[in-house]
Amino acid sequence: MGNRAGREKFSTGLAAFFATLGSALGLGNIWKFPYLVGENGGGAFLFIYLLCVIFVGIPVMICEFYIGRKTRKNAVGAFQKIGTNPAWKIIGYLGVLSAYLIMFFYSCVAGWVYSYVFKALKGDFNAISAHSVEAELTKAVVGPISPLFWQLVVLIVVSVVLICGVKRGIERVTKTLLPVLFILIIICAIRAMTLPGAFQGLYFLFHIDFSQLTPNIILMALGLAFFKLSLGMGTLITYGSYFTENNNMITTAIKVALSDTVVSLLAGIAIFPTVFSFSMETGAGPGLLFLTIPLVFSQIPFGNILLAAFFFLTSIAATTAMISIVEVLVAYLSEEKGMSRTKAVIFNATLIMFIGMLATLSADRASILGDVHIFGRTFFQLFDFTSSNVILPIGGLLIVIFVGWVGAKEEFRYELSNQGMLKTDWLISIFYFFIKYVAPVLLAVVFLNSIGLFRI
Ligand code: TRP
Repeated sequence: MGNRAGREKFSTGLAAFFATLGSALGLGNIWKFPYLVGENGGGAFLFIYLLCVIFVGIPVMICEFYIGRKTRKNAVGAFQKIGTNPAWKIIGYLGVLSAYLIMFFYSCVAGWVYSYVFKALKGDFNAISAHSVEAELTKAVVGPISPLFWQLVVLIVVSVVLICGVKRGIERVTKTLLPVLFILIIICAIRAMTLPGAFQGLYFLFHIDFSQLTPNIILMALGLAFFKLSLGMGTLITYGSYFTENNNMITTAIKVALSDTVVSLLAGIAIFPTVFSFSMETGAGPGLLFLTIPLVFSQIPFGNILLAAFFFLTSIAATTAMISIVEVLVAYLSEEKGMSRTKAVIFNATLIMFIGMLATLSADRASILGDVHIFGRTFFQLFDFTSSNVILPIGGLLIVIFVGWVGAKEEFRYELSNQGMLKTDWLISIFYFFIKYVAPVLLAVVFLNSIGLFRI
């Protein structure tokens, strides 16, 4: 399967763009982005986030595409093939580790999203008040039976799709449903802007107040950029390995980053006016999405249908993102360890369910394991923090060092210009500069600062 998959290609540049976007768009945009903006002070965080995307995110994405297309291999195999020193395979192994860590909590949150589809259809949110929305959320999150049940459903859905290997199917599903999700988010955003007091929400989102910034917030923004753009883990190395020879990888990276940002901003525009209109807390944390969106739809005709559709499409986005995460594990186990694809899927899903339970049972203060702390964080927070804010940026740092300092510039230029077909030397030079100097320095400074070895 591995070699066959390695030789398979996305049919066109557009298909490659959609597939990559399908991996990028997910809970990172709709769930994580708004609540992190809310917790970290709004506009200033957003501003730093955008800088991280431009100076670090897009360069790392280009590097991953480059390594993938050049080697046409999975995340671990790619470094084996290209690396002068086998130690570079560590990037692939770190990717495998973070794929597990992300899945432990991602499958839990996806479960909440799935459960909200049914709650909406049942009419649980009809004409609901801000207060009862909170009670509904607590029921869904604290459980413990309901969140564990939905987490299991999520993992079964992901496994079935991966075992069927319906790559074409997934492609078609994302291509048709992502635009629908996009339209629904626009509807949400417009509706939210017509709520009384909406302006305050927009002000919060776009007003930049640098006094809010701390080094830790910069690390959060960087981690979010990696998480949202699916970077630092080898996902986009794998996708790059399916790109055609004439794909312009620089413009693909820019277009993916841009679309991903637009979707996140729309989610923010749907959520923050609602927060202010219903006098809720901007720093409500991981529950923010689930507290606000039901209120956006609660007062309008067919609100529950629109609400169910919103959560259904979000669950599709989350599912395709998870597929791209678990695929890293399945590709590794089947190609490098000789496990059959089906076995690899079942093995991973089982492991994720068992350890992922720790995330689910510690997601809220009232949860069974809600006050167990390791290094000052709950299991849920620990899985999230170590993957997004530690391992993904380290992976990114190693990737840019590998491309900028170990590989030859000429090879980079040759591959990115599609063997000289594209006349974009100036663009390649700009990004090469970012890759060689800007991204590694920023990553190292933010990172060393966050672990306390260096103070900005
Ligand atoms: N980007 C996805 C989201 O925003 C999550 C995701 C998919 C991811 N593949 C990844 C995150 C690889 C990190 C690395 O929801």
